[in-house]
Amino acid sequence: MKASIIYFTSLGRTKKTAKVIGSTLTNFEVDYFPFELQGTFGMKVSIQNQHNKGDFSTIERELSELENIDQDYDLIIFGMPTYGDNPPSAFYEIVKRVNIKEQKVAIFVTCSITGKKTLELMEKTIEDAGANIIGQAKFKGFFKPKLRKASQFGHIINETPLSS
Ligand SMILES: Cc1cc2nc3c(=O)[nH]c(=O)nc-3n(C[C@H](O)[C@H](O)[C@H](O)COP(=O)(O)O)c2cc1C
Repeated sequence: MKASIIYFTSLGRTKKTAKVIGSTLTNFEVDYFPFELQGTFGMKVSIQNQHNKGDFSTIERELSELENIDQDYDLIIFGMPTYGDNPPSAFYEIVKRVNIKEQKVAIFVTCSITGKKTLELMEKTIEDAGANIIGQAKFKGFFKPKLRKASQFGHIINETPLSS
Protein backbone atom coordinates (compact mmCIF):
# COMPACT_ATOMS: atom_id res chain seq x y z
CA MET A 1 0.00 0.00 0.00
CA LYS A 2 1.00 3.61 -0.45
CA ALA A 3 0.69 6.52 1.96
CA SER A 4 1.39 10.19 1.52
CA ILE A 5 2.17 12.52 4.38
CA ILE A 6 1.35 16.14 3.64
CA TYR A 7 2.73 18.42 6.32
CA PHE A 8 3.26 22.08 6.97
CA THR A 9 6.07 23.31 9.20
CA SER A 10 7.54 26.63 10.13
CA LEU A 11 9.80 25.77 13.07
CA GLY A 12 10.49 22.11 12.16
CA ARG A 13 8.50 20.27 14.81
CA THR A 14 5.71 19.08 12.55
CA LYS A 15 8.33 17.89 10.09
CA LYS A 16 10.10 15.82 12.78
CA THR A 17 6.74 14.41 13.88
CA ALA A 18 5.77 13.56 10.30
CA LYS A 19 9.06 11.75 9.72
CA VAL A 20 8.66 9.65 12.86
CA ILE A 21 5.12 8.68 11.86
CA GLY A 22 6.30 7.87 8.34
CA SER A 23 9.08 5.65 9.66
CA THR A 24 6.57 3.48 11.51
CA LEU A 25 4.35 2.85 8.47
CA THR A 26 6.02 -0.40 7.52
CA ASN A 27 2.93 -1.64 5.67
CA PHE A 28 3.17 1.36 3.35
CA GLU A 29 5.47 2.91 0.85
CA VAL A 30 5.55 6.49 2.13
CA ASP A 31 5.91 9.72 0.15
CA TYR A 32 6.22 13.11 1.79
CA PHE A 33 4.67 16.32 0.50
CA PRO A 34 6.36 18.98 2.62
CA PHE A 35 5.30 22.58 3.02
CA GLU A 36 8.34 23.99 4.81
CA LEU A 37 8.65 27.72 5.34
CA GLN A 38 12.19 28.99 4.79
CA GLY A 39 14.06 32.06 5.97
CA THR A 40 14.14 34.11 9.14
CA PHE A 41 11.28 34.10 11.63
CA GLY A 42 10.21 37.50 10.25
CA MET A 43 10.14 36.13 6.69
CA LYS A 44 8.04 33.18 7.82
CA VAL A 45 5.57 35.49 9.55
CA SER A 46 5.38 37.59 6.41
CA ILE A 47 4.72 34.51 4.22
CA GLN A 48 1.95 33.42 6.57
CA ASN A 49 0.43 36.90 6.47
CA GLN A 50 0.33 36.56 2.69
CA HIS A 51 -1.38 33.18 3.06
CA ASN A 52 -3.89 34.68 5.49
CA LYS A 53 -4.82 37.16 2.75
CA GLY A 54 -5.40 34.31 0.29
CA ASP A 55 -2.11 34.68 -1.60
CA PHE A 56 -0.46 31.26 -1.82
CA SER A 57 2.04 32.12 -4.56
CA THR A 58 4.96 31.28 -2.22
CA ILE A 59 3.85 27.64 -2.05
CA GLU A 60 2.33 27.26 -5.51
CA ARG A 61 5.02 24.81 -6.63
CA GLU A 62 4.29 22.50 -3.69
CA LEU A 63 0.53 22.88 -4.16
CA SER A 64 0.77 21.89 -7.81
CA GLU A 65 2.57 18.69 -6.81
CA LEU A 66 -0.58 17.57 -5.01
CA GLU A 67 -2.45 17.04 -8.27
CA ASN A 68 -3.54 13.42 -8.85
CA ILE A 69 -2.53 12.42 -5.33
CA ASP A 70 -5.96 10.85 -4.75
CA GLN A 71 -5.36 8.30 -7.47
CA ASP A 72 -2.00 7.18 -6.16
CA TYR A 73 -2.43 6.67 -2.43
CA ASP A 74 -4.36 4.32 -0.16
CA LEU A 75 -3.93 6.70 2.76
CA ILE A 76 -3.28 10.42 3.07
CA ILE A 77 -2.00 11.91 6.32
CA PHE A 78 -2.24 15.63 7.02
CA GLY A 79 0.05 17.05 9.71
CA MET A 80 -0.31 20.67 10.79
CA PRO A 81 0.98 22.92 13.58
CA THR A 82 -1.28 25.12 15.68
CA TYR A 83 -0.81 28.84 15.24
CA GLY A 84 -3.14 31.03 17.29
CA ASP A 85 -5.36 28.01 17.93
CA ASN A 86 -5.86 27.42 14.20
CA PRO A 87 -4.21 25.39 11.47
CA PRO A 88 -2.16 27.51 9.06
CA SER A 89 -4.24 29.05 6.25
CA ALA A 90 -2.27 26.88 3.86
CA PHE A 91 -4.08 23.83 5.27
CA TYR A 92 -7.38 24.95 3.77
CA GLU A 93 -5.75 25.65 0.43
CA ILE A 94 -4.03 22.26 0.48
CA VAL A 95 -7.34 20.47 1.11
CA LYS A 96 -8.92 22.41 -1.77
CA ARG A 97 -6.16 21.21 -4.07
CA VAL A 98 -6.40 17.49 -3.26
CA ASN A 99 -9.40 15.41 -4.17
CA ILE A 100 -9.96 13.47 -0.95
CA LYS A 101 -13.54 12.39 -1.56
CA GLU A 102 -13.95 8.88 -0.12
CA GLN A 103 -10.23 8.83 0.64
CA LYS A 104 -8.90 7.32 3.86
CA VAL A 105 -7.26 10.08 5.84
CA ALA A 106 -5.42 10.47 9.15
CA ILE A 107 -4.72 13.84 10.75
CA PHE A 108 -2.38 15.14 13.40
CA VAL A 109 -1.59 18.43 15.05
CA THR A 110 1.51 19.65 16.87
CA CYS A 111 1.12 22.34 19.51
CA SER A 112 2.64 23.72 22.71
CA ILE A 113 -0.37 23.92 24.96
CA THR A 114 -3.66 23.63 23.09
CA GLY A 115 -4.44 22.11 19.73
CA LYS A 116 -7.91 20.70 20.32
CA LYS A 117 -9.61 23.41 18.28
CA THR A 118 -7.11 23.03 15.45
CA LEU A 119 -7.70 19.29 15.32
CA GLU A 120 -11.48 19.83 15.31
CA LEU A 121 -11.21 22.38 12.50
CA MET A 122 -9.08 19.98 10.50
CA GLU A 123 -11.50 17.14 11.14
CA LYS A 124 -14.46 19.19 9.94
CA THR A 125 -12.64 20.42 6.84
CA ILE A 126 -11.52 16.93 5.90
CA GLU A 127 -14.98 15.44 6.49
CA ASP A 128 -16.67 18.25 4.55
CA ALA A 129 -14.38 17.33 1.65
CA GLY A 130 -15.86 13.83 1.76
CA ALA A 131 -12.97 11.86 3.25
CA ASN A 132 -13.11 9.19 5.95
CA ILE A 133 -10.89 9.89 8.93
CA ILE A 134 -9.33 6.67 10.21
CA GLY A 135 -7.17 8.22 12.92
CA GLN A 136 -6.31 11.50 14.54
CA ALA A 137 -3.84 12.73 17.15
CA LYS A 138 -2.66 15.84 18.92
CA PHE A 139 0.97 16.06 20.02
CA LYS A 140 1.38 18.57 22.76
CA GLY A 141 5.02 19.42 23.49
CA PHE A 142 6.04 22.70 25.06
CA PHE A 143 9.80 22.27 24.82
CA LYS A 144 10.16 19.54 22.20
CA PRO A 145 7.91 17.56 19.89
CA LYS A 146 6.40 14.41 21.38
CA LEU A 147 8.10 11.90 19.11
CA ARG A 148 7.43 8.77 21.19
CA LYS A 149 3.70 9.47 21.04
CA ALA A 150 4.03 10.15 17.33
CA SER A 151 5.63 6.74 16.91
CA GLN A 152 2.79 5.07 18.84
CA PHE A 153 0.24 6.84 16.65
CA GLY A 154 2.09 5.72 13.53
CA HIS A 155 2.06 2.10 14.67
CA ILE A 156 -1.70 2.26 15.24
CA ILE A 157 -2.28 3.79 11.81
CA ASN A 158 -0.04 1.15 10.28
CA GLU A 159 -2.27 -1.61 11.65
CA THR A 160 -5.64 0.07 10.98
CA PRO A 161 -7.58 -1.79 8.29
CA LEU A 162 -8.34 0.48 5.35
CA SER A 163 -11.05 -1.55 3.69
CA SER A 164 -14.50 -0.05 4.31
C1 LIG B 1 3.14 32.22 15.90
C2 LIG B 1 2.89 30.99 16.73
C3 LIG B 1 1.64 30.78 17.27
C4 LIG B 1 1.40 29.63 18.05
N1 LIG B 1 0.16 29.44 18.60
C5 LIG B 1 -0.05 28.36 19.39
C6 LIG B 1 -1.33 28.14 19.98
O1 LIG B 1 -2.28 28.90 19.81
N2 LIG B 1 -1.49 27.03 20.76
C7 LIG B 1 -0.45 26.16 20.99
O2 LIG B 1 -0.65 25.19 21.73
N3 LIG B 1 0.74 26.33 20.41
C8 LIG B 1 0.96 27.39 19.61
N4 LIG B 1 2.19 27.57 19.03
C9 LIG B 1 3.21 26.53 19.16
C10 LIG B 1 3.23 25.65 17.90
O3 LIG B 1 1.95 25.13 17.61
C11 LIG B 1 4.14 24.44 18.07
O4 LIG B 1 5.42 24.84 18.46
C12 LIG B 1 4.20 23.64 16.79
O5 LIG B 1 4.71 22.36 17.08
C13 LIG B 1 5.07 24.32 15.76
O6 LIG B 1 5.13 23.53 14.62
P1 LIG B 1 6.30 23.71 13.54
O7 LIG B 1 7.60 23.62 14.30
O8 LIG B 1 6.12 22.56 12.63
O9 LIG B 1 6.10 25.03 12.88
C14 LIG B 1 2.44 28.70 18.27
C15 LIG B 1 3.71 28.92 17.69
C16 LIG B 1 3.93 30.06 16.94
C17 LIG B 1 5.29 30.26 16.35
